[in-house]
Amino acid sequence: MNNSELSALLKDMSLDEKIEQLIQLHGGFFGEVGTITGPAAEFKMTGDQPYRTGSVLGEAGAKRLRELQDKMTAAQPHHIPALFMADVIHGYKTAFPVPIAIGSSFNTELAEKIAEAAAKECSAAGVHVTFSPMVDVSRDARWGRCMESPGEDPYLNSEMAKAEVKGFQGDDVKKPGRVAACAKHFAAYGAPVAGRDYNVTEISEHTLYEDYLKPYRAAVEAGVKLVMTAFNTIDRKPCTTNKRLLRGILRDDMGFDGVVISDYNAVGETVIHGSSYDKRDAAVKALSAGCDIDMMSDCYLSGLRAAVQSGELDESLIDEAVMRVLKLKNDLGLFENPYKDGSEEAEREIIFSKEIQELGRKAAVETAVLLKNNGVLPLSISQKIAVVGELCDSPMIVGSWSIFADRSRTVTLKKALETLCPECDIKFFPSDNADEASEYAKGCDAVIVCVGENEEHTGESMSKADISLSEAHNRLVEAVSGVNKNVVTLVFGGRPLGIARADSLSAAVLEVWLPGTVGCLGIADILFGRENPSGRLSMSLPYCSGQLPITYAMYKTGRPKPENTGFIRYMSNYMDVPNRPLYSFGQGLGYSEIEYSAVRLDKDVIGRGESARASVTLKNLGERDQLEAVQLYIRDEKSSVVRPTRELKGFKKVLVPAGGEVEVGFIITERELEFYGEDMRLCAEPGDFKVFVTRDSLGENCATLRLEGG
Ligand code: BGC
Repeated sequence: MNNSELSALLKDMSLDEKIEQLIQLHGGFFGEVGTITGPAAEFKMTGDQPYRTGSVLGEAGAKRLRELQDKMTAAQPHHIPALFMADVIHGYKTAFPVPIAIGSSFNTELAEKIAEAAAKECSAAGVHVTFSPMVDVSRDARWGRCMESPGEDPYLNSEMAKAEVKGFQGDDVKKPGRVAACAKHFAAYGAPVAGRDYNVTEISEHTLYEDYLKPYRAAVEAGVKLVMTAFNTIDRKPCTTNKRLLRGILRDDMGFDGVVISDYNAVGETVIHGSSYDKRDAAVKALSAGCDIDMMSDCYLSGLRAAVQSGELDESLIDEAVMRVLKLKNDLGLFENPYKDGSEEAEREIIFSKEIQELGRKAAVETAVLLKNNGVLPLSISQKIAVVGELCDSPMIVGSWSIFADRSRTVTLKKALETLCPECDIKFFPSDNADEASEYAKGCDAVIVCVGENEEHTGESMSKADISLSEAHNRLVEAVSGVNKNVVTLVFGGRPLGIARADSLSAAVLEVWLPGTVGCLGIADILFGRENPSGRLSMSLPYCSGQLPITYAMYKTGRPKPENTGFIRYMSNYMDVPNRPLYSFGQGLGYSEIEYSAVRLDKDVIGRGESARASVTLKNLGERDQLEAVQLYIRDEKSSVVRPTRELKGFKKVLVPAGGEVEVGFIITERELEFYGEDMRLCAEPGDFKVFVTRDSLGENCATLRLEGG
């Protein structure tokens, strides 16, 4: 349809029809297709009204959605097709490693391919929109939803956001195998006070702009079709009724012209927040603020009609929102083909295809982070090995938002090792019983200890006040390391965990996150040296919960403590732990050592509008090809507002062949030097900048660049 046809359609719709387009119900409202279930009565919906609503949440499967679509288009007076939206966060039937792991790949091409594969699988199952990517910056591991975000850094999250939007949507979302993406949760959902999910945020205007808004902006610039509001408040206002946020920042400033959808019942929750008087007030506030679709509250349903009739709400605001929904349907081609790619034949052909399984395995190799290795890894198949800990044979390692993943296909670590190393002498003890496990560990050449969290201990609402490894897991590592010095600790989980004790007792530590359906095959490849790990931490691993929130990009204090000294009184430091995390953002090892040359700048001084190139030569001192995540950080030495000690401004994942050399360069323009100044405008101020090109956020390899000009 062209725009005038869409306008004519809108004009012909009744007020009720328009309001129904702005309502999203979950699949539980529709039983066997054609029947209406209990929730509809709770929402006081009558007749076939649920079938006339604009979109459905959380349903998938080609047969089911084709039938539902038939029923919905028949019920809707203008036969407008429904949108099917679902949480396909890191895969559909095939789950890939969780997003924090994907962030740790430092590989945007990989992130794009994963999104593309997820889009292919779920579009074959009739899904039109995915509630992904989640781009919230997360710096507090107490918050269980760290799992769903690429990590702690605005630049990394922005690059991942762009890659994923491209992977889901392609260059035309109408094309086969593509789905519309939804960036979430706008805004600053990753900063709940004390790491408690759904809690309020307390952040300054500078922090909001400098750290939290950037990844959403990147998603908008990449053409994301939808944005989801967040549950939290910002500056005392719930995001879902926050006009300044949704109209001012998102639409006017960032230029977003797609659909804004509330999070689940977030419109209704503004009443519980106490900032809306009742459902009708909440509906008026949310719609006026710019929230187009009400996901799973009955506020729009029960409140909008009366608000328009009483003159409280201008119908043109409803028209505006409906037009955006119609445009999205049109962009997806639903008026011509309401099922889009959904077909049982496509499901059979695409889901679990060989390429998708291969990608899942490769993804685990690039997302696992080798934190420590005294040489025990890689293991050799001629060694006698014990593998202990319940997680070694747990299928609960897929991730908590992989709601559609086919768990019967999950390859556990035990299964992976048995498949890949049938000739190897490996004993498995899938239990956390420390005493018995240590019996297995005795007399082995090495022992792999699996600790951490399974998928039920992480994700939405799974906040923790203490992120330490469990007592049982610390005891397991202690007992095993008491009888075997070659302990390889594998840490599973969706957030940074407090592993300081286990780390000190291990010869090697591999952070494997929640590796997804077939990820353990990739982990087994790493353990036996068939693949070389190349992941880097996308969130710092603290010593303990008391350091949270934590990031490498801490703002400069007036009393900085020199690094590598003990506690100093009247300096900004802790008495009991260092300021730095146990492992910092960007850290991670491979099996080959990569030597960095000093940083070279082609110019030491640049003027306004000019650029410089910073480069290093990498030399692979090892015997294996190594993928290396080279990182560019910049520190602004003096500026009108306080700046972080350093900030990530670029990264490249490059292959350095065994024994070979590779040159890697980054272009630095004013854009890399700019920040929000005192007046909240972006500016780059003249002066000196330290340019670091390093292997991680701790590296000191740097040169000084000067920006001149007024
Ligand atoms: C989550 C969203 C999700 C939505 C729909 C909410 O609870 O916060 O991230 O997309 O549910 O399932």
